[in-house]
Amino acid sequence: MRDYKDFLAEVLIEPEALQKRVAELGALISHDYRDSDALVLICILRGGVLFLSDLIRHITVPHAVEFMAVSSYGSGKRESTGQVRITLDLNMNIHDKDVILVEDIIDSGRTLASVLDLLSARKPRSLCVCTLLDKSERREVYVPLRYVGFTIPNKFVFGYGLDLDELYRNLPFVGVVDEDRYREG
Ligand code: PRP
Ligand code: MN
Ligand code: MG
Repeated sequence: MRDYKDFLAEVLIEPEALQKRVAELGALISHDYRDSDALVLICILRGGVLFLSDLIRHITVPHAVEFMAVSSYGSGKRESTGQVRITLDLNMNIHDKDVILVEDIIDSGRTLASVLDLLSARKPRSLCVCTLLDKSERREVYVPLRYVGFTIPNKFVFGYGLDLDELYRNLPFVGVVDEDRYREG
C-alpha cells in the first residue's frame, strides 16, 4: 500500500479546522431546524459518510439518517449527460419531511442537480443541501447550496471521505494530490 505522503502536495484543510467548521455547521443546522419534527439527513454514498457522521454529533434536533447511492449513466461518467440512476434508494418515504442532503464535495454540480430533481419529485416539506466542500470554479449547472463548509480552489483533493481511486477516504484532513508523483507510483 502506498503511503499518501509520497504524493501529498499540501494539506489544504487541517483536521482541527475541519472539525471546527463541522461543529459550526451542526450548530447552524440545529438552530435553523429547532422547530422541525421531521428532519432527515440524507448522505449520498460514499464520499459524504465521514462528514455526515461527524456532523450529526453536533445536531441537537432529533433527526433520521438515510443513505442513497447513485451512478452516472453511460461510459462518459457524469460529464456526458449528467443524469444519474439510483443504485441504492432510501428506506424512508420523505414526503413531508425536512430533508438535508449531505455531500462531501460539489464539483460540476451534476450529481447533486440530478439527485435534487429525483428527491423533489417525492414532495418533501423542504429540501436543501449541506456540503463540506464547494469547488465553485468547476460548476457547470447551478445548484442551490444552503450550507457550505469551505469553498476551495480547483485542485485535486482527497481525504476525509474523498477518495483517490477508492482509497484514502479515512484521512482526517483534506489534502491536495501531487498528480505527477501520484502517477509515477
Ligand atoms: C464525488 C463526490 C460527489 C460528486 C461531485 O462522488 O462525492 O458526490 O463526485 O461531482 P459533481 O458535482 O461533478 O457531480 P463520486 O462520484 O466520486 O463517488 P464517491 O462519493 O463514491 O467517491
Ligand atoms: Mn460522492
Ligand atoms: Mg469518488
